Amino acid sequence: MVHRIALLPGDGVGPEVVAEARKALDALGLAAEWVELDWGSAYYHRHGRMMPDGAVEVVRAYDAVLMGAVGDPSVPDHVTLWGLLLPIRQQLDLWANVRPGRLLPGIPCPLAGRGPKDVDMLFLRENSEGEYSGVGGRAHQGLHHEVAIETSVFTREGTERVLRLAFDLAEERRGLLTSATKSNASRYGYVLWDEVVEEVAGGFPGVRVERVLVDALAARMVRDPASLDVVVASNLFADILTDLAAALQGGMGMAASANLAPGSDAPGVFEPVHGSAPDIAGQGIANPCGAIWSASLMLEHLGEAEAAATLMAALATVCCKGPRTRDVGGTATTRQVGDAVAAAAGA
Ligand code: NAD
Ligand code: IPM
Ligand code: MN
Repeated sequence: MVHRIALLPGDGVGPEVVAEARKALDALGLAAEWVELDWGSAYYHRHGRMMPDGAVEVVRAYDAVLMGAVGDPSVPDHVTLWGLLLPIRQQLDLWANVRPGRLLPGIPCPLAGRGPKDVDMLFLRENSEGEYSGVGGRAHQGLHHEVAIETSVFTREGTERVLRLAFDLAEERRGLLTSATKSNASRYGYVLWDEVVEEVAGGFPGVRVERVLVDALAARMVRDPASLDVVVASNLFADILTDLAAALQGGMGMAASANLAPGSDAPGVFEPVHGSAPDIAGQGIANPCGAIWSASLMLEHLGEAEAAATLMAALATVCCKGPRTRDVGGTATTRQVGDAVAAAAGA
């Protein structure tokens, strides 16, 4: 079976890291048909928009999307993200964002005395609503009594589907689910979320579930990461927690993610957790590991379990033995790391 994959390199380091992920997939001899989409900030400067009319339908025709990142200092971030990434996630209803928070052997951990056995979490991020619903507006713009309103939207259906998946994932792992909210200060959406946790928990007697306030959870991730297994949280909270998790697993360049719509035939979108990193773009030094790990997640969801495991093993070998980029203690370039992973994957 030939997989039809759309490559969306985007901006900044996006094209640099995605090229290495594709190289690794090619080394595996995967039967794939690729199309490259040139959407992003350069496209915006040419066409006045981040992607063409009907872009979501274009993407829908593929089996999967492998994405870099978008964002460029020349365009306001809310324009780039609401012009590309967020509409793709929302219109394909990719409601589950799965983000492994695992430290690979050989990658330095910023926590003193901690290692790979301490940092092995799996984050599930609600990816379709919550604080990212895009509901709101501004009135009296530019006047002294200007008002900006940003409304979070939590639906029972949206909450329940992501929590069910969280319990499923916890059942497959170590059986602990941590649900993070802030239902002391915010008394509507997160309170509904907490109630749905209690309801869904009844169907999963094998999973121990705990409700933790998100501020306390951030501290616990640093103090005692080994006490966490699967963590589920709303769109914004999991966004923040997964940058913290990325730091624990060696840095932004290490972290991977999968945007999924379980039970539907919408293509998954696979992307590193990091952004376009304009501060290091164009220098050939970005860490491609998060992008390569995302490609492995993509293989899993394309039904290529064996290829996914081979790629993950190749990535782990290179992280352990080197070469590594400078953000994780090495001196290698993006390409040298990508070449090494491709060589290990193809061997
Ligand atoms: P960022 O993740 O781009 O960068 C944060 C820090 O991490 C920087 O110091 C950067 O150099 C470092 N970093 C990131 N990726 C790295 C890699 N692969 N290797 C080594 N170091 C890496 O976050 P930011 O600076 O907040 O955002 C930059 C731009 O990216 C903004 O426009 C933002 O909106 C956008 N963004 C896009 C996405 C996405 O498209 N998925 C995600 C996050 C941020
Ligand atoms: C991420 C990013 C995006 C998000 C931004 C760029 C909109 O930070 O994928 O983590 O917040 O979802
Ligand atoms: Mn983020």
